[in-house]
Amino acid sequence: MNNYSRHSPCPQRAYSLEGPTGPFWNETILESAADLLRGDSKERRILGWVLQRAERGNPQGVPDAVDDYCRRKGWAMNVGDEKGSIGDGAVRACRPTALLELGTYCGYSAVRTARLLAPGARLLTVEGHPDFAAIARRLILFAGLQDKVQVLEGTSHQVIPQPRKKRDVATLDLVFIDHSKDRYLPDTVPDGGLLRPGTVLLADNVIFPGAPDLLRYVRGSRRFSCTHHPAHVEYLTVPDGLEEAVFLG
Ligand SMILES: C[S@@+](CC[C@H](N)C(=O)[O-])C[C@H]1O[C@@H](n2cnc3c(N)ncnc32)[C@H](O)[C@@H]1O
Repeated sequence: MNNYSRHSPCPQRAYSLEGPTGPFWNETILESAADLLRGDSKERRILGWVLQRAERGNPQGVPDAVDDYCRRKGWAMNVGDEKGSIGDGAVRACRPTALLELGTYCGYSAVRTARLLAPGARLLTVEGHPDFAAIARRLILFAGLQDKVQVLEGTSHQVIPQPRKKRDVATLDLVFIDHSKDRYLPDTVPDGGLLRPGTVLLADNVIFPGAPDLLRYVRGSRRFSCTHHPAHVEYLTVPDGLEEAVFLG
């Protein structure tokens, strides 16, 4: 299994189809087996659901339809509407023009974020799984946000150096961190080359499944000012949260 392809919001110790994380396990275990037999995938079903129900060119319709799928049909690892609206608040407050997202998946958070961006702003979003990157590109195009969002396909450590070298991005205003939890810290902070005083780091799942290395680092550093936003794992009642860490320079 690729190290980027797995995102588990659930404790490794328990495989339970009941309780607050039951929908996740239903999707992961039962649906994966069924998909293998059918040659289908949950992500393709999400794409089909959105294309059939949302309005082309209306960005808000995409996250709404994805949330609707996840509530009615099955869990998926989008940031979701609760944490998504916290992210919306950070985007509105920061008014970013240069953004990086680590972990695109189907493009839910990319569309959600880009719908709030001013003309000329640009979001680069990194996805290591080719099928997910392709689905995200379809949804971004469907939302009419192709001029604002670019999906960079590849693993984060390969792709992150590109904004400076190839894409004419000197520093970032906002980084949304939502990929492999063990890559949160190494992919964002140590080099710091793309950060400038005022850059906002917004990290998902810092409580569940948790990103202790990143939390310890940013909370213990005088170079960051941190705010925790408590919430829940997407579409579940399990506590989770977003960490907002503003780089002070
Ligand atoms: C939680 S999902 C992202 C959800 C998305 N931000 C949203 O809210 O719609 C995590 C995604 O990160 C990708 N990923 C994980 N580690 C990665 C890495 N090191 N490089 C690139 N992509 C990675 C996975 O393939 C997965 O699609």
